[in-house]
Order: sequence, then C-alpha cells, then structure tokens
Amino acid sequence: MINKDFTSSVVILIASTAIVAAFSFLVWVLPAFFYQDKLIAESTAKPLTALQVAGRDIYISEGCHTCHSMMVRPLNAEIKRYGRYNRESDDIYEHPNLWGSKRTGPDLTNLGRKYSDQWHIIHLRNPRDVVPTSIMPSYPWLFEQVLDGEDIEAKLTALRTLGVPYSDKEIRQARLEVKGKTKAQALIAYLQSLGQDQGVRP
Ligand code: HEC
Repeated sequence: MINKDFTSSVVILIASTAIVAAFSFLVWVLPAFFYQDKLIAESTAKPLTALQVAGRDIYISEGCHTCHSMMVRPLNAEIKRYGRYNRESDDIYEHPNLWGSKRTGPDLTNLGRKYSDQWHIIHLRNPRDVVPTSIMPSYPWLFEQVLDGEDIEAKLTALRTLGVPYSDKEIRQARLEVKGKTKAQALIAYLQSLGQDQGVRP
C-alpha cells in the first residue's frame, strides 16, 4: 500500500524528499556554522603556495580527480594502505574539496614526498615506464605548456574571500612565482604538498 502511495503520488514524493533534505541540513550543515571557528583554530592545515594552487587547477582540469580520491576513511585497511585518515579540520582551505568518489587509481591524500620529483616526471610522461601494468593515461603536453600566471592573482584573491589567509604580499608575488613554469612543474609542486600541507602528523 505504502509503495503504491510513494510511486503514484507526486505530493508524497516531494514532501518526503523535502523532509529528508531538511533533516540532512539540520544534522550536517547547520551545526557546522556553529563550530567553524573552533575547526579553524584547531586545524594544522597550511594554505597552498601560488604554484601549488596553479597545480591544483591543472589536477582538476586534467580530470585526475575522476580516477583518484583524496579521502582516507578511518578504517584499518585504508589507513594501512594510504596513511593518516582525513579529519574535518584538514579541509578548511579546500575550495572545492577533491575527495572524489572513484578509485581507479590509488588515494592521493598522503602522497606528498612519497616519491621524488623525478619519479613524478617519468610517471606523468608515461606511467608504464615506472609501473608496467598501469592503465593511467600519459600527459606529455604538461611538459610543453607553459603558464603565464595571468589569472593567479585573481584566484588567490577569490580564495582569500573564501577564508584562505593570503597576505597582500603573497598575492602580489603570485604571478612571478607561477610565470614561466610548465604545467608539469606546477602539478608536481601540488602533488608533493599533499598530506604535507597539514602540519604535524600524529
Ligand atoms: C584513467 C584513470 C586515471 C587518471 C585519469 C589518472 N590516473 Fe593516476 N593512476 C591511475 C592508476 C590505475 C594508478 C596506479 C598505477 C600507477 O601507479 O600508474 C595511478 C597512479 C598514480 C600515482 C601514483 C600513486 C601512488 O601512491 O603510487 C600518482 C601520483 C597519480 N596517479 C597521479 C595522477 C595525476 C596527477 C593525474 C592527472 C594528471 C592522474 N593520476 C590521472 C589511474 C588514473
């Protein structure tokens, strides 16, 4: 009987959707407004440098997040394989977050310093040179395309509006830091920061 009501009545469907959404809002979203300051105070997260921000944007635009998650759950198997699990306070400067929902490749939360820059160069050019069975695509163009840094000041300013504490000086110098670097250099700077941008590790 109840099945019939749910599938045949639009009103019941909309009302039940609204109730579930309102409950989620009350339980998940609303409390966050009240302890945000505490979260910021206890967080050890450090803002990314201008070059790392540029690298993060390349990570997004190349779609790396469609195969790699950045969300280690507090489960034994995950911690053994990927290291320290994510805490809410880790992500206060992540806009947008890159938790992901697919793991065709391994989780990258704690990747920073696991490999040398040289390893990443070889791997990005052709993953099969270091992992013969890899199905990850090659990204040779990242080594040819050079960044001009035109939009990096605007990006840092936008991030500052969202609460990332960049100083005026950091924003002024951002372009110099990025200009002339290849996309691969920026991306590798970002990859090496992963897990290392959270300060002291327990
Ligand atoms: C089609 C899915 C796919 C895409 C897209 C992809 N990867 Fe991968 N990635 C993999 C797989 C599978 C592996 C495991 C084999 C290997 O190491 O190559 C991997 C491994 C890695 C590793 C090594 C991780 C470790 O802990 O050993 C890094 C770093 C990495 N990928 C970075 C990237 C970056 C950066 C991008 C975007 C430029 C990217 N991947 C895009 C599938 C993908």
